[in-house]
Amino acid sequence: MWTEEHREWATVDYSSLKDGTAFPKGFMWGVATASHQIEGGNTNNWSEFEPRSKSQQLSGLACDHWNKRTEDIELISALGVSHYRFSIEWSRLVPEQGRWDAQAAQWYSELVDELLAKGIQPMATLHHFTHPVWWDELGGFERTENIQHWIDFCVRIFDLLSDRVEWWCTINEPAVYTSMGYVLGEFPPGVRSFKRTRAVALNMMRAHAQCYRALKQRPFGRRSHIGLVKNINLFDPYRRWNPLHWLQAKLLDGMFNRCWIKALKTGRFRPPSGLRSYKIPGIKGSSDFIGVNYYTHLLTTPFMPTKVEIDPLIRPWETRTDFRYPMYAEGLRRAFDMVKGLNLPIIVTENGVADDDDDMRPEHVRRHLQVTAEAIADGLDVRGFYHWSLMDNFEWAEGYDQRFGLYHVDFESQERTLKDGGKEYAEIVTSHRMPQVVIMAGGLGTRLGSMTEKTPKSLIEVNGKPILSHILDWAQAQGCLNALVLTGHLAEHFDGFTHSGMAVKFHREPSPLGTGGALWNAKEHLEERFILLWGDDLHPIDYAGLIETHQKGEAPMTMCATESHTEMNLRHQNGVLEAYDKTSTLEGLNGYEAGTSVVEKSVVMEHGKSGVWSWEQTVYPALAGRIQIHLDDTPFWDMGTPERLALLEEFLKKTTL
Ligand code: BGC
Repeated sequence: MWTEEHREWATVDYSSLKDGTAFPKGFMWGVATASHQIEGGNTNNWSEFEPRSKSQQLSGLACDHWNKRTEDIELISALGVSHYRFSIEWSRLVPEQGRWDAQAAQWYSELVDELLAKGIQPMATLHHFTHPVWWDELGGFERTENIQHWIDFCVRIFDLLSDRVEWWCTINEPAVYTSMGYVLGEFPPGVRSFKRTRAVALNMMRAHAQCYRALKQRPFGRRSHIGLVKNINLFDPYRRWNPLHWLQAKLLDGMFNRCWIKALKTGRFRPPSGLRSYKIPGIKGSSDFIGVNYYTHLLTTPFMPTKVEIDPLIRPWETRTDFRYPMYAEGLRRAFDMVKGLNLPIIVTENGVADDDDDMRPEHVRRHLQVTAEAIADGLDVRGFYHWSLMDNFEWAEGYDQRFGLYHVDFESQERTLKDGGKEYAEIVTSHRMPQVVIMAGGLGTRLGSMTEKTPKSLIEVNGKPILSHILDWAQAQGCLNALVLTGHLAEHFDGFTHSGMAVKFHREPSPLGTGGALWNAKEHLEERFILLWGDDLHPIDYAGLIETHQKGEAPMTMCATESHTEMNLRHQNGVLEAYDKTSTLEGLNGYEAGTSVVEKSVVMEHGKSGVWSWEQTVYPALAGRIQIHLDDTPFWDMGTPERLALLEEFLKKTTL
């Protein structure tokens, strides 16, 4: 027996969502789209069906994303998210049987590169409701022998992108594809046939299993995370005391949810409405994660409408979304519980709301994230959350009438505008994301002899690459996506420097400005809060702990100090900096500044001035008594002298950061 939980949302305290404490470090924050819904200009099974669809609206140009890719990546980046889920349009890559379109493949390759350059991890879906017309004419998923065509496509695109794309979804929502296309008749091919439903369901599961096995054997297969995306639609008896309502709920739940999940666990699949189960080769354990798409619950009676346009029953206290089904965030937890027996990492690969005027979306975002955070706190292994969708788009049978976007799209002008719901999501995301790292990389290695008299120390190679690359590796591993490198006045030395997977910006000084002057000179590029690092020090500490100290202390700046160092240069007490003394002559020094701090931009704005000035000598005395101290004795490595450089080299040889 199940319980249909309902919460008193007005009394829920959402504060941890925005103070950055609700989700773990490394949580995958994302937004999702699908090719046919945004790209525009596609010719596939859907474009063929559109004139016959319920709305009869044509996808046409959609969001014209095919031509606006770079601009749209900016939109993703502006939300502060670290992950983006999109789908790859098979009909573009193989428009005719046997013809591979290299240009289209290049487009996706560039999409991936542009995402990575912004520090956004791509997640690619290989089938999201659409496929080429020629394959549809062969019978699509209705015929087992067609599966190989799809596998060939999957392998080819995987080989092209898997050196850069680590996250892969095989099939999006096989239960929705089959039920909408073959039971309700609202998706192509628009039929109502249980016999064909069963064939398609079976073949989709076979295809998923074969795809997983094939990709795992390719180069990069083992390190890739490949999973199935399952929409969990909950079914609850309208009257819980009515056995017929109860039976109906159980039946639909079995057909729509449980049989698919069970197949991944047992290796046997009983397709919806089928009387027997089939062994599907390779399906047992064929997912490295389970993608959960969650939208709502439906209340069941034996006389439920089988048409989407008839309003479903809802509870009196529930609010209808534009899709007419209710907002029911409590169900997301039940969806997690339903898949937890698979013992796989769970990723919310879609969750969002159709809400034209955006009056529900902020609350929708809060509720579903609150439920997710609580599930994680209770020990469920939820790794990420992708909001559906980045922007308003072509909502299948509903055409453009249902708006799911965090950005509003004006389909006439193709203008995108951030909605309040988008702002809300971005605020929650950014409060949990690692701040920007700002690296002071202008210093010259005057004590290192001729090798760096004229080049910045941060570019000296240690263990095969510049120290700056090692510093960025560490920051990236800690979850930082953006770096600002202050190059001093010798910026040309940094030409051609790249760091994959992070957005790295370089900023130069017209003439040497000192540590403080360099920050002031870059003030337009500083985020509200940043992590300040030195370009010639490697300090591999846990950033999450440092940020936690900073957040708790609510200080303008938090400095990392070590007590296990031969010299001391500061005095701290009760977690606060009392005095800083670079000359080490003061009495009672009990710590040494280890070189990683968190700074609120307001400090730069209050104490900054143009010209040459020193950060330590200006800001530390001015803020004495207010700078928070984060004690961490992790050794830090600098390269001030040839001996210390050699020690760093030795350390890096032994460790992988
Ligand atoms: C699909 C999306 C769709 C969304 C909203 C999901 O079932 O994967 O393509 O836009 O629901 O209805």
